[in-house]
Amino acid sequence: MSKYSIVIAGGGSTFTPEIVLLLLESQDRLPLRSIKFYDNDEKRQELVGKACEIMMREKAPDVKFLYTTDPKEAFTDVDFVMAHIRVGKYEMRSLDEKIPLKHGVVGQETCGPGGISYGMRSIGGVIELIDYMEKYSPNAWMLNYSNPAAIVAEATRRLKPNSKVLNICDMPIGLEATMAKVCGLKSRKEMQVRYFGLNHFGWWTDIREKATGRDLMPTIKKHIAEHGFHTVDSNRDADWTDTYKKAKDTYALSPDMIPNSYLKYYFFPDYVVSHSDINYTRTDMVKEGREKTVFVECQKIIDKGTFKDSSFHVGGHASYIVDLATAIAFNTGERMLLIVPNNGSISNFDPTAMVEIPCIVGVTGPESMNMGEIPRFQKGLMEQQVAVEKLTVEAWIEGSYLKLWQAISLSRTVPSMEVAKKILDDLIEANKDFWPKLK
Ligand code: NAD
Ligand code: G6P
Ligand code: MN
Repeated sequence: MSKYSIVIAGGGSTFTPEIVLLLLESQDRLPLRSIKFYDNDEKRQELVGKACEIMMREKAPDVKFLYTTDPKEAFTDVDFVMAHIRVGKYEMRSLDEKIPLKHGVVGQETCGPGGISYGMRSIGGVIELIDYMEKYSPNAWMLNYSNPAAIVAEATRRLKPNSKVLNICDMPIGLEATMAKVCGLKSRKEMQVRYFGLNHFGWWTDIREKATGRDLMPTIKKHIAEHGFHTVDSNRDADWTDTYKKAKDTYALSPDMIPNSYLKYYFFPDYVVSHSDINYTRTDMVKEGREKTVFVECQKIIDKGTFKDSSFHVGGHASYIVDLATAIAFNTGERMLLIVPNNGSISNFDPTAMVEIPCIVGVTGPESMNMGEIPRFQKGLMEQQVAVEKLTVEAWIEGSYLKLWQAISLSRTVPSMEVAKKILDDLIEANKDFWPKLK
């Protein structure tokens, strides 16, 4: 069986150690010959890199390992690029959250003005990774989940239409895991779903037990109507618990479908703002939570010189990335939700929109499934949101202030073009090292 070579772009990410553990554990289905890390922040990556070097030496001495900031070394002789970069890091995520909040608007990583701001930073970073991949390993695939995935996906469609790039998100997977639990199933893989929407903006229309065809929607709907996605044994933090519970209210407006939990930010912007603290946003929670835990653990491994007794465990978080790589490498034909050009899959929606829908994945990439016509309510919401995403990408390509002002004004989270302009002007100032110059 062939062995695969992987580069993780954004090696210094808080998710990297768990992904490496998962990759090692998944070698029965995706055998490895090499894992490399690439990052443009040498110091941040070094900490994660040194700890993972020790882990690799003890757990998989036969798999080659290195970490580097040199694109040539990183991208040469690879089969898959797993991309999870955060351009501007947590420092800029914090401003994406706090600047809109200062103007009374939702401040969130991927939704509303914060997501638009992050998109304007991410596009250049992800395109650069694609260029490196195509220069040094032209046959490789990029599996991208750098956010904001919706805007990044539209940018790759516009700027790299022939590149082997697949955009994917873990939110539907996480929510499906909860739904499977609610139905008493062992794994979400025992379910077969129909889903449509944009990234962080979609709905499940049909959920069945794969083996029997049994309709699981009534059981799931009952749970969502009472608890949202919250379950008693959920181990998510308080912030996510609120989001999971709020799905109950989102569900009430279109009870024929199951909503993605991210719709909270579009349907309840007033609630979100009044429950936010501008001095302590999600970034502050992640820095004190996930980032601290991961970095302290890495330092411990380095100090002890061994991975034994480490508290890192295989994260379910990234299993979909291994599923995706395996589907391509071994032509498994697995059905997965991906962010792909609509191209008629949703028959009454813009064929050029990047939509999140089920696809069959094999050696040639994804074949998207037909989702048919969608109802007016969802269609109207999606048309507005897809215009926001397309205008953002056009603003980046053309350097257009006007288009970015239009994008922010059009977001459901923003009350007026005047507020949009104030937010935009603050974001331009904060992002001057990252965004293209706007005229
Ligand atoms: P992080 O800040 O811990 O890690 C990101 C790393 O990317 C940093 O080490 C940074 O130095 C590096 N980086 C930034 N710009 C770069 C560039 N141009 N080239 C190379 N490296 C660069 O962030 P995190 O919280 O671990 O998240 C990583 C990414 O994964 C984010 O984009 C996040 O939104 C995304 N994510 C997506 C999903 C999904 O569902 N699609 C799920 C989880 C995380
Ligand atoms: C989910 C989403 C990701 C997002 C992440 C944020 O996994 O699908 O797109 O990046 O949540 O989580 P955090 O803990 O960083 O706020
Ligand atoms: Mn996501």
